[in-house]
Amino acid sequence: MSMAQHLAEITDQQFADISELVKRLTGINLHAGKKELVKARLAKRTRQLKLGSLEEYIGFVRNDKSGRELVSMLDALSTNLTFFFREPAHFNFLKDRILPDIKGRNTKRLRIWSAGCSSGEEPYSIAILLNECIPDLDRWDAKILATDLSTRVLSIAMRGEYAKQRFRDTPGQLVQRYFDVVQTSPSKIYRTGPRIRKIVHFARLNLVEPWPMKGPFDVMFCRNVMIYFDKPTQNRLVKRYYDLLAPGGHLFLGHSESLTGTKHQFRYVMPATYVK
Ligand SMILES: C[S@@+](CC[C@H](N)C(=O)[O-])C[C@H]1O[C@@H](n2cnc3c(N)ncnc32)[C@H](O)[C@@H]1O
Repeated sequence: MSMAQHLAEITDQQFADISELVKRLTGINLHAGKKELVKARLAKRTRQLKLGSLEEYIGFVRNDKSGRELVSMLDALSTNLTFFFREPAHFNFLKDRILPDIKGRNTKRLRIWSAGCSSGEEPYSIAILLNECIPDLDRWDAKILATDLSTRVLSIAMRGEYAKQRFRDTPGQLVQRYFDVVQTSPSKIYRTGPRIRKIVHFARLNLVEPWPMKGPFDVMFCRNVMIYFDKPTQNRLVKRYYDLLAPGGHLFLGHSESLTGTKHQFRYVMPATYVK
């Protein structure tokens, strides 16, 4: 058996053990269809650590008392696809409906949470909209909290450097206004400018663990995250979101997610959009 084949072997028992561990720690459901993906991603991690087999790798995770390799394993298993202004209906609703109401309150305070922010495109898109819609934003107490389980994507988010492909749904003038070009060749790289950086605060947070924030939040984005959780975990999370939102506050989910079949107190507004 070649080294590559050897590394990629994963028994049903190993897969079941890993799924159980990941489910317990993060809520993420690695159903049987994910076996190939788990195999490929953990084989890569096994090679990076120069270990001989997946079995050795699993032993290594279990014996690492610092918990660091567990974090790396969860990083390797999470799916982080995202891009700027993904699912634009939510951004239009924020711009046209939510922000005008909040501006009318005259408190100049705004709290938004991007839960499961991945590499930062979602919270930075929100920050761009706030700058576009609130001319005196500098005089506001406005903060966007952006959290994720994965330290790998958070470090990309904090660096804030993106290739052109990430902007496929972003008007060119917004890219010019809010990003600096930091590399032109062999391909262009854009870095988030200070006006959007200063209102976004990144932190690692596992959604199924206790949350340190007190809220209340005016808006929560939790898009394309709960899709990986089972129904009881989703029910618990939705209840916790409700409790942390201000009355009249909005919750956005991903467009393939909805609260149908979930016990909740929200009022439906439009697809994947709810209000407290
Ligand atoms: C597909 S991305 C969604 C990014 C962005 N919200 C969007 O819609 O474009 C899902 C993110 O959820 C994060 N995630 C998964 N389980 C999590 C958990 N238990 N706690 C916090 N974040 C989690 C993953 O690390 C990943 O970055």
